[in-house]
Amino acid sequence: MASFLQIADDDEGHELDLFCVPRHYENDLERVIIPHGLIMDRTERLARDIIRDMGGHHIAALCVLKGGYTFFADLLDHIQVLNQNCDESLPLTVDFIRVKSYCNDRSTNSVKVIGGEELSKLSGKNVLIVEDVVETGRTMETLLSLLSECKPKMVKVVSLLVKRTPRSSGYRPDYIGFEVPDAFLVGYALDYNEHFRDLSHICILNDQAKEKYKV
Ligand code: PRP
Repeated sequence: MASFLQIADDDEGHELDLFCVPRHYENDLERVIIPHGLIMDRTERLARDIIRDMGGHHIAALCVLKGGYTFFADLLDHIQVLNQNCDESLPLTVDFIRVKSYCNDRSTNSVKVIGGEELSKLSGKNVLIVEDVVETGRTMETLLSLLSECKPKMVKVVSLLVKRTPRSSGYRPDYIGFEVPDAFLVGYALDYNEHFRDLSHICILNDQAKEKYKV
């Protein structure tokens, strides 16, 4: 089973005033739950674990947009640095897919692929799917099922976050950065109706902001 850094349900996180957050979000956030520096440190270790397991294989890294783009960029940067300094190294190509299922703070129960590469390009390849968060698991299960029709050689999934939620299907990725409480989290490309992707730390959204940015 994948190891992860656990953020406990009673973890209060950190006061906003201790960190720099954009002025335009100051009144929308409750606490900083994972500071940017900790995300980077954990991502560095995930990169090392992935190279250890997949080193020597050519990997097609598939970024699940939009939420995955920051983690994807930082993870690949770390892999690149390790590639430059290790005996084992990992040739990489990059692909992107756009999947959407959330509106406001709820899963819509329908996972839609609304853009990106033809998955058939990944036929016969070793694919590393890079995702920001697994909640119900529905997005990843749908994507894995679509991908399997294209017959990749191997598929591994890395998700920065996995949420502890009773809504989970039980799906677990191969690599996990953090296991987090069942709160609505934003920042580091995680959004609420497209807002908060431009925030470096992962934070808990307050109820006032949920109303303010509701569609
Ligand atoms: C979010 C997130 C994952 C998915 C996880 O995407 O980026 O892809 O939800 O949820 P699940 O495990 O319950 O399926 P969203 O639909 O919000 O689109 P986005 O990436 O463009 O923000």
